[in-house]
Amino acid sequence: MPTMDSLEDLLKDEIKDIYDAEKQLTKALPKLIKKATADDLKAALQNHLQETEEHIARLEQVFDLMQMPPRGKKCEGMQHLIEEGNDMIGECEEDGTRDAVIIAAAQKCEHYEIASYGTIRVWANLLDHTDVASIFEDTLEEEKNADLKLTEIAESFVNEEAASEGDGDEEEEEEEGKTMKVAASRSRRPAAATGRKARR
Ligand SMILES: [Fe+2]
Repeated sequence: MPTMDSLEDLLKDEIKDIYDAEKQLTKALPKLIKKATADDLKAALQNHLQETEEHIARLEQVFDLMQMPPRGKKCEGMQHLIEEGNDMIGECEEDGTRDAVIIAAAQKCEHYEIASYGTIRVWANLLDHTDVASIFEDTLEEEKNADLKLTEIAESFVNEEAASEGDGDEEEEEEEGKTMKVAASRSRRPAAATGRKARR
């Protein structure tokens, strides 16, 4: 078990880590918004960009409450998630597939943040920093909602369309009688029904 002193140090370290992670996200999200095709996806990412800016402001409040200088520490976890997402997105030629990959990349970042805020909320409570813990709780809820929203978008149409794109893979899947058959046929809904914009 960590001592309370070492837990206090760990908490401070994690606050610096998530502060840097949030700052990296404010730079990564505008690029994802630009590359996304579906209106719902663009709107969800745009909304989360605004929330992310608010999360940074809340962390600056936390630095103040913890009497720490408002300085981050390079978050390599977020850096690698963003790099990996960019690599995958860069390889996509089809709009629907790219949107599916953008959602996957954004959700991996969200899950990192959910894990971080969940951890520091517990540690802050253990150390009686209840005001700080309650700030983390607010942000944690918003991260979870952003993640849920992305899941909803993925389920509504993006992943279905990705399943039907490419070089005829879906026919192969249909022959094998896999569930992909359903996804591929659903994706033939008219664009208006799926809320998608015309292809670039
Ligand atoms: Fe955030």
